[in-house]
Amino acid sequence: MTTAPVRRETTTPDLLSAFPFPFVDDIYRYSTNVEPANQQVITPAGQWGDSVAVIDSEYRNELAERAAVLDADPTRRAVLPHMRPAAWDALMTMLRELAHAYPDTMHLTSVGHDEWHWRNDLLDDERTFRYGEEASLGDDPLHYLSTQVQEDIALLDQRDDQLFVDAGVITFAADWSFGFDVGMSFLEIHGPVPRVRKMGVITRAHEFLKRLQPHEPYRRTNWTMTIGRRLDVSTERYPEWGPDREMIQHVDDAEFGRLVHLRVEVQHLIRLPDSGAIMFVIRTYLLPLEALATVEPWRTRAAEVFAELPDDMADYKGIIKYRTRASEWLRTHAGHQPSADDN
Ligand code: HEM
Repeated sequence: MTTAPVRRETTTPDLLSAFPFPFVDDIYRYSTNVEPANQQVITPAGQWGDSVAVIDSEYRNELAERAAVLDADPTRRAVLPHMRPAAWDALMTMLRELAHAYPDTMHLTSVGHDEWHWRNDLLDDERTFRYGEEASLGDDPLHYLSTQVQEDIALLDQRDDQLFVDAGVITFAADWSFGFDVGMSFLEIHGPVPRVRKMGVITRAHEFLKRLQPHEPYRRTNWTMTIGRRLDVSTERYPEWGPDREMIQHVDDAEFGRLVHLRVEVQHLIRLPDSGAIMFVIRTYLLPLEALATVEPWRTRAAEVFAELPDDMADYKGIIKYRTRASEWLRTHAGHQPSADDN
């Protein structure tokens, strides 16, 4: 027997209207799918894509969840010594992004040479700090950043014509381990992904990233499915969430639609201006099938993609045992409105 997956509350409207539905076709294959960032995408449910850092109704929940993960497992964060300047660069870049996107609640002000005042009204948190001086911030800059944004962040060093994941705070990994990967090269990290070597996807992405320029952020999406509104499906916690892939095959239809979530990552790729490191920003969105089915073009398209996905890709994504049922569920739930009884 497995324990019930965490958190099954109803979907608040903004999680549907700002959901970055990832499928542009009825067939999904890997590609080097990058595009310039900060372009708004209009969807049948609303819109997404205006900014690198996004605050939604899950802000406090997700920050609390990240804090709990970091408390329980310090291997989810690391800054190799040569990445300290990049960590400051990341902090300033993301605080600027927040202040730009949310001027009513997020404020960054220059108060002297290399001195800054930051105020986050939502958290009632404010600091005056000197760039590069941990004591003035009262925290390691990457850790502090992880208390302000919902996004996970990895920092890549570029040396010897390669990229290395040498720093990060990753608490919501989709079936991988930051603690295991830290220090590895971009090419090594993508070793387990099927197909991509033959297709040249990863080597092309590597060349693209090495040429990335400051102030020209790019983004891409990636997706999988997750059972329950569970952000932390890291390798470390596999014993907790892995058995749900078996359990989900035995629940009734209403429970299936509530528990199975389309999980989408919006990933930003940014060359940091001072350190030259690459910042990889990963934001995870989860939408249950029962909410997805309320948007007709999403319902029909996702059903096609799940059914058609080749077995090796479905297996790698960990959805092979229930993707056919997910597709069938969507096909048979046209106009589905979650009822009060469903909750
Ligand atoms: C997985 C492509 C950037 C870390 C993947 C997958 C693809 C991919 C196709 C398989 C995903 C799936 O089936 O769910 C790309 C492309 C990139 C990019 C095209 C840039 C344009 C990055 C960066 C990092 C990264 C900068 C740095 C941390 C990972 C990890 C996995 C992954 C950790 C999981 C690997 C595993 O199974 O252990 N990537 N990626 N990716 N990517 Fe990337």
